[in-house]
Amino acid sequence: MIIVSEKNIFSLTNKYYSYVFRVGDGGILEHIYYGSSLINPNNSVSHHYQTHRDGVLHFQGKKNYNLSELPQEYPTFGSTDFRFPAFHCKNSDGNTATVLKYKNHRIIKGKNYLSALPSARGGECSTLIVCLEDNLHKIEVDLAYTIYDNYGVLVRSANIKNNGNNKLELNNIYSSSIDLPASEYEILHLHGSWSRELSEESMIVPSGRFVIESNRGSSSAAHFPFIAVCEEQCNEIHGNIYSSSLIYSGNHSISVEKGEFNDVRLLTGINSFNFNWSLNPGDNFQTPEAVHVYSKNGLRGMSNIWHSFIRDKITPKNFNIKPRPTYLNTWESSYFDIDHQKVLKLADKALSIGLEMIVLDDGWFDRRIDDSSSLGDWYADTKRFPDGIQDLAIQIKRKGLKFGIWIEPEMISTKSELFKKHPDWVLKAPGRIPSLGRNQLVLDYCNADVVNYIFDKLDKLLSGGNIDYIKWDMNRNMSEVGSPVVSAKQQLEVPHRYILGLYSLLNRLTKKYPNVLFENCASGGNRLDLGMLRYMSQSWPSDMSDPIGRLNIINGCSYLFPLDVLSAYIGPSPNHQNGRISSINSRFNAGAFCAAKGISLSDSDIDNNANELAKLINFAKEHATDMIGGSFYRLKKSANVFCWQYITKDKKKCFLLYFHILSGPNEPFQHIKLVELEKNSKYKQTSNGKLYSGNLLMENGFTLPYVSMTNDNKSISYMPKGDFSSKLFVFKKV
Ligand code: DGJ
Repeated sequence: MIIVSEKNIFSLTNKYYSYVFRVGDGGILEHIYYGSSLINPNNSVSHHYQTHRDGVLHFQGKKNYNLSELPQEYPTFGSTDFRFPAFHCKNSDGNTATVLKYKNHRIIKGKNYLSALPSARGGECSTLIVCLEDNLHKIEVDLAYTIYDNYGVLVRSANIKNNGNNKLELNNIYSSSIDLPASEYEILHLHGSWSRELSEESMIVPSGRFVIESNRGSSSAAHFPFIAVCEEQCNEIHGNIYSSSLIYSGNHSISVEKGEFNDVRLLTGINSFNFNWSLNPGDNFQTPEAVHVYSKNGLRGMSNIWHSFIRDKITPKNFNIKPRPTYLNTWESSYFDIDHQKVLKLADKALSIGLEMIVLDDGWFDRRIDDSSSLGDWYADTKRFPDGIQDLAIQIKRKGLKFGIWIEPEMISTKSELFKKHPDWVLKAPGRIPSLGRNQLVLDYCNADVVNYIFDKLDKLLSGGNIDYIKWDMNRNMSEVGSPVVSAKQQLEVPHRYILGLYSLLNRLTKKYPNVLFENCASGGNRLDLGMLRYMSQSWPSDMSDPIGRLNIINGCSYLFPLDVLSAYIGPSPNHQNGRISSINSRFNAGAFCAAKGISLSDSDIDNNANELAKLINFAKEHATDMIGGSFYRLKKSANVFCWQYITKDKKKCFLLYFHILSGPNEPFQHIKLVELEKNSKYKQTSNGKLYSGNLLMENGFTLPYVSMTNDNKSISYMPKGDFSSKLFVFKKV
C-alpha cells in the first residue's frame, strides 16, 4: 500500500515493512523510516538524529539545515552533503553541483517495466514515482518505488532525463540510496573467485566506505552484487537486516558508508568507476532495478523472502514450477575428446542408469579440439560430428532422452572464420594489443550487427526444434574495453552498452524459444545475478564439483538464491579441481537440494558405479518436483559440519542433510533441531519407519548419526566411515 499525506509524507507499507520519506522544507526528499511494519507509518518521526552543530554549512542559505546530516532518498554532491552521492553529473558549466528537489509524483497500480533492462515482474503491487528536478540545469529524475502486497521487497530504480539545452555527463547514477540511522551494523557479503565462488564474509561496518564492485564487464565471482547490512547481534533467526541486490549483469557497485555521525548510507547501482554517460538534450538514462529485502527475523527470514521473490518475480515463468530433467554433461566426462559416436555411447550409458537428458558441452563446433580456437563458428565440426547437431539431437531424442548443448555466444577466438571475416567485431582499445583470456576475445555487443549475427546463428541452432536446453557460458573478464562503433567521447559507455546488447539478444531468444531451458554459466559463477536469472531458469554456480568445495558455495548461494535455480552434478573422483577423493554418495548429497541434478562421468566411471548411480538418479527423479518451490534452511555450519533442511512446497516432506567433513575419534553426539514443521503432525523417517512428532523434531531435535571407527553397536545410527561423509534423511508427513 502507498499512502501519501497532505503534507507530502510518502509511506510504502505492507505486512513486512514500512518505508517512509517526505518532501522536506527545501524540497529535498528526506528519508524518515525503513523497518518493520508500522500501524500508522505517516505519523512516524525520523529515526535519524538531527542536531544543529556549530560550524556546519547552511544549505543554500537555510539556517540549521545541512544535507550532510540529513537522511535522503537520492543524494547529490556539491551542496553540503559530503558523503558519496547517488547522483553525480557534470553540467554544461563544467561543475557538478546538483540540487534535486521534489517536483511531483504519481502512483501506478502494478509496476513499471524498464525498456532495455530486465525488470522484476509485477502483480499485486503498486509503484510510486517521484519526480525530482534540478531547476537550474533542467535535470529531471524519476525515482520509482515498487512495493508488493506479499513480499518484504522494495524495488527501486531511477530514470534521469535531460530537459535542458546542453549535454550532461552522468558520472554516478545509482539505482537507489538508503540512509540508515546511526547504529552498530555488520555487513555480510559474498566474494570469491573461480571454483570458490560465493564465500561469505562478515565484518563490522567500519567508518568510511566499504564497497563491493565489479569492473570486469560481468557481475563477477569476485564480489557478487549482494550485501546484507545486519543490525549488531543479528543471527539466523533474530535481528533487523537490510539487504540489497541489483537486477544487472555488468559492472555493479554496492557500497556501505558510515559517516561522521555513524549514519550509514547504502548505495546500489552501476559502478561509477570508469563509467560516464553523455546525456543529450531530450534523452534519458534508465538505471537497473535495485531490489531491497528487509527482514526482522534474521538471515533465515531474509533468505526466505529472497527465495520466494526470485522464484515468483525474477526467473522465467515457464520453468519456475517445472521439475528439471536429470542429465549427463559431457564436460568432466570427456572434455574436448568428444564426437558423434561418443555422445551416442554416453547417451546409452545415461539411459542405462535412468538419466533423462544428455548435454553436449564445449567441443562440438568447427575444429574445436581444445580451447584455442573456433568460438564464433557456431556450426558442427564436420569431422567429429559429420551428421551435424540436428541429426545427432534427433538420434538422441529417439532414444528417449532430451538433448542440450553448450554455447559461448559472446566470445570469439582469434583462430576462427568469424574473426577472419570480422576482426573489428571485438572489444578493443585502439593501438593496444588486446589481452587474450582463455585464448579468446569478447565480441562487441555494442554493435547491433554483431548481436543480430549471433541471434541468427543461435536461431538456426534452435529452430530445428530438437534442442531442449542451452548452457550459456562466458569464460573471460573484459579487458581493453572499447568499441569501434561508439564515438571516442563515449567509450566509457561501452561496458553498459555491451550489457544492453546482451539483454536485447537474450530477450529476443528467450521470447522466441520459451520452452528451451536456459542455464546461465560464466566459468561457473562469474555472472550469477538477478539480471541473468531474469532470462535463464537456472545457473551453474561453480566448476567446483568436489562435494566439500561445493558445500560452501551452495551455503553462500542460499543467502540470496533459492536452490531451485541451481544445478549440481556428480563429478569424477579424484576431483579435477582439488584432487579430493570422495564417495559417489557425498558427491550427490552436496547437490541434493539443487533443482537440476546430473552426472559428468566417463564411461568407465559409470560402469563401475552403475548400481549406486542408478539408485541416486532414481531418488533425484522421485524428488524432482519436491526440489522446486520449497523452503531451505541453514541449520548449522561449522568448520567440520554442515546441516541443511528442506521442506517441500506442499509441506508433506522434509529433508535433512548432514555432512561431516573430517572424521575424528571419540566425537560427541550431535542433535539438531529442525524448524518450521507442523508441531502436531507426525513425520515418518523413510529409511527406518520411525515416527516423530513435529514438536519433538523441533524442540528436542533429531540425533544425528554417530561418527566412529567401530560402527558395531546395532542400536546406534552411524555415519559412513572416514572423511567427507554425509547422510540424507527424508521425513514424510503421515
Ligand atoms: C566453463 C564452465 O563452467 C564448464 O562447466 C564448462 O562448460 C567449460 N567452461 C567449457 O569450456
